[in-house]
Amino acid sequence: MTTLHIDSSISGDNSASRAISRSIVDQLHPAGQVVVRDLVADPLPHLTFDAFADTSVLDEFLAADTVVIGAPMYNFTLPSQLKAWLDRILVAGKTFRYAETGPEGLAGGKRVIVALARGGYYDAGSPAAALEHLESYLRGVFNFIGIEPEFVAADGLAVSPEQRETSLRQALGQTVRLAA
Ligand SMILES: Cc1cc2nc3c(=O)[nH]c(=O)nc-3n(C[C@H](O)[C@H](O)[C@H](O)COP(=O)(O)O)c2cc1C
Repeated sequence: MTTLHIDSSISGDNSASRAISRSIVDQLHPAGQVVVRDLVADPLPHLTFDAFADTSVLDEFLAADTVVIGAPMYNFTLPSQLKAWLDRILVAGKTFRYAETGPEGLAGGKRVIVALARGGYYDAGSPAAALEHLESYLRGVFNFIGIEPEFVAADGLAVSPEQRETSLRQALGQTVRLAA
């Protein structure tokens, strides 16, 4: 069992998504290896066609049974550091292909769990719902390659220090069920 643990928050020890993703990895008690990829400490460059020649990031993803991703919301979507990682794993012929019936995901069989951290609220029907391009994007992208991702979310983190503490505590509590 190999777990790939990815983080993308720029907030270091104050990061909610990092705290949640760490808790998820701890809860899963992986019997095997945990590979850590910190996309802030070791950022990937923007995609170029030359970058496709290096398949190490893709190979690392393909080798993992479980992938845990810390994903903070920045400017209504994912950090560009995390987008650069996705650009390395969305590869035609490797993680998806276009069949006669339409796109087909080739990366099924993995468990992907995303730790979301958002300053506001984006529930369906809320005023900011149309600006939610983090969870919706990640769900769409992983569905596209054949994976149904799971999410643990801490929302309203920028509302007040009290709300931040409550939301973070609730999200950390939710990580317990993931081990079941
Ligand atoms: C540069 C920046 C941009 C942000 N943009 C948004 C945003 O568009 N919507 C939102 O709800 N929260 C936004 N936030 C708040 C973060 O989502 C929130 O602080 C969350 O805790 C970030 O996750 P982290 O603690 O793991 O870094 C932003 C925070 C930063 C630092």
